[in-house]
Amino acid sequence: MKITVIGSGYVGLITGACLAGKGFTAVCVDKAQPIVDKINAGTPPIHEKGLEALLKEVRATGHLSATTDLAAAINGADVIFIAVGTPFDGKEIDIAHVKAAAADVGRLLRTAGPYPVITVKSTVIPTTAETVVLPIIEKESGLKAGTGFGLCSNPEFLREGSAVDDFMNPDRIVIGATDPKTLEKMRRLYAWTNATVVETNPRTAEMIKYTANSLLPLMISFSNEIANLATAIGGIDIRDVMKGVHLDYRLNPVVDGKRVNPGILSYLEAGCGFGGSCFPKDVKALTAFARRKGMGQGILEQITAVNEAQPLIVAALVTDRLGDINGKKIAVLGLAFKPETDDTRESPSIPLVRELLRRGARVTAHDPIVSAEFNKYPGCETLTHAPTWREAVRGAEAAIIMTRWEQYREITAAELTSLMKRPFLVDTRRMLKKELFVSIEYAGIGYRPADA
Ligand SMILES: NC(=O)c1ccc[n+]([C@@H]2O[C@H](COP(=O)([O-])OP(=O)(O)OC[C@H]3O[C@@H](n4cnc5c(N)ncnc54)[C@H](O)[C@@H]3O)[C@@H](O)[C@H]2O)c1
Repeated sequence: MKITVIGSGYVGLITGACLAGKGFTAVCVDKAQPIVDKINAGTPPIHEKGLEALLKEVRATGHLSATTDLAAAINGADVIFIAVGTPFDGKEIDIAHVKAAAADVGRLLRTAGPYPVITVKSTVIPTTAETVVLPIIEKESGLKAGTGFGLCSNPEFLREGSAVDDFMNPDRIVIGATDPKTLEKMRRLYAWTNATVVETNPRTAEMIKYTANSLLPLMISFSNEIANLATAIGGIDIRDVMKGVHLDYRLNPVVDGKRVNPGILSYLEAGCGFGGSCFPKDVKALTAFARRKGMGQGILEQITAVNEAQPLIVAALVTDRLGDINGKKIAVLGLAFKPETDDTRESPSIPLVRELLRRGARVTAHDPIVSAEFNKYPGCETLTHAPTWREAVRGAEAAIIMTRWEQYREITAAELTSLMKRPFLVDTRRMLKKELFVSIEYAGIGYRPADA
């Protein structure tokens, strides 16, 4: 089977490279020439564990190529993925890229293989595949869905940081096909996995993706709200609260005499808020869609409100302690929205850095992967960068952990005391034991001593 993937960002490239790794002939298409050149050179344009080795392998076997030439890529294609971005435009989801890709595919569809299947992998609002993508392709190609081509929604659930592994070992495959021939082709495409396949209609597939991408942020915002309540009361540590909650057998069952500690529990932890290219925009898009359906004011609205307040609560933790921060050096440890990725989209570090700079602080950041490119965010232009966390905290009056990078586990009270002007640690991820920092000033999300 020949696979064409339109859009070679996170999802498109991982899809193309992984399917090439499974022996399919995959062609990644992107409008951006530098991305195409990097893929063809076997150099990953994004930081993802295992991607470089996989790219080198599939370039060597000839199973993967990249191009800006859509006509060449579609020629003889059996399955055509649309994996372009679907940003939030401030009011609702912007599907302009999806529409443009659908129109391009439609114009070239007659050169594809027999009964090509167009598969929407981009995250889109329920009914988009049927009511937007399908009519565009029918109009541009002059072919009819169900006779000339197949249409399918096949949302992606990979997590940045472990994207290759997630694609290769999926927890589920969701196939929302419009007809049996399409379903059959998609079953063949995923025959290499033994993941449970949800076979359904396109709009249900689209709804599954949005539901999953709202549930996890809901859990995070819930945990943060409880953490803030614990702080307001004082003498309560959210870590202990959540430990007590996590021990419910229904959340954390015992199997063979041991707790399973499912990964879902990491979403029931307090922190500085969620970020990334998906959760914030997907929750906002679903919220806007619910509003349009006359279902505003519901629980979805609050997920974003709580999340957007959280980095400002972190800034307040610092200013409550330091008072006027004008001219004071503050270290921000971690810029990526989570560890093991260089993705800073919607990172909670953006509003935090912006707020600290706005109040006149001299902010120096450390991140193992991200540096000067972060300064592109409005309000973050004057951020400086240090090559190590030690350099970042040197002479600072507060050190704020924002990303759970493993290397920050090295941080000790003794080193902070010797390096900082005022040893004050703010652990927004609650990744270090607070008991180890009793000799210095400490603040953590979800904890305030009873007498403070
Ligand atoms: N990033 C994730 O972890 C993730 C996970 C699951 C689903 N998704 C969804 O997948 C979709 C893509 O996300 P992403 O993070 O890969 O986006 P991205 O912004 O990283 O990549 C999109 C790519 O598409 C290219 N592009 C846009 N229009 C094009 C066109 N007409 N022809 C060729 N190339 C075009 C852009 O140049 C860009 O490189 C989104 O809908 C997103 O919500 C993302």
